[in-house]
Amino acid sequence: MTPHYFSEKPSTTGKTILIHTHQLGNRLTFKSQSGIFGWMKVDTGSELLLNNLLLPKKSDLTILDLGCGYGFLGIALAKAYPQNNFVLTDINKLAVRLTKENCKTNDVLQNTRVCQGNLYEPVKNDHFDIIITNPPLMAGKKILKEIIVSSINHLKEQGSVQLVVPKKKGLISMQKMLASVYGTYQVLTKGSGFWILKSEKAKT
Ligand SMILES: C[S@@+](CC[C@H](N)C(=O)[O-])C[C@H]1O[C@@H](n2cnc3c(N)ncnc32)[C@H](O)[C@@H]1O
Repeated sequence: MTPHYFSEKPSTTGKTILIHTHQLGNRLTFKSQSGIFGWMKVDTGSELLLNNLLLPKKSDLTILDLGCGYGFLGIALAKAYPQNNFVLTDINKLAVRLTKENCKTNDVLQNTRVCQGNLYEPVKNDHFDIIITNPPLMAGKKILKEIIVSSINHLKEQGSVQLVVPKKKGLISMQKMLASVYGTYQVLTKGSGFWILKSEKAKT
């Protein structure tokens, strides 16, 4: 067993907590456990992304939450936008188990699918309107590059990737990666030491 939250089987003390939070107009409860990224409280960067991402005013959008952790982003969005469909994935088996449980607790089973696997492997044949991620910076540059480079292959035309990056860790390389894959990127907001970035797949 390896100790990292981004392992398939993270080490855990087994300690679990319930996080009660109010997001996008809904009261939500998340079960979390040691061995999961930011397991003791809602992550500030994820909360900034949740509150600033751009969602077209359409129904039947398909949205991927890549690296879902205990399910914070995907579940908060699935609850607020029941007319859209969400896929939540993570490499961490504990994270996936908790996310499935949290989908049930927060009553979003009807518009969510939760899958375990590396990067885009669980969604290899799928194309999304939006890919959101709070990327696993600790997993290293190779994984981050793979997340950005492959994202364009999993977006529909005019689909977008929207992500959060800490200003002091990985911002410049993430900006360069987005610019090299998509030609450009937009800064949706900055705050509390985080930037929210968005790039769009061009219409062919
Ligand atoms: C910074 S955390 C964000 C977690 C969650 N989205 C949140 O906002 O609390 C990044 C997540 O990416 C997952 N991850 C790391 N490497 C991955 C990989 N190769 N494939 C899929 N998920 C990965 C980690 O297990 C972790 O849950």
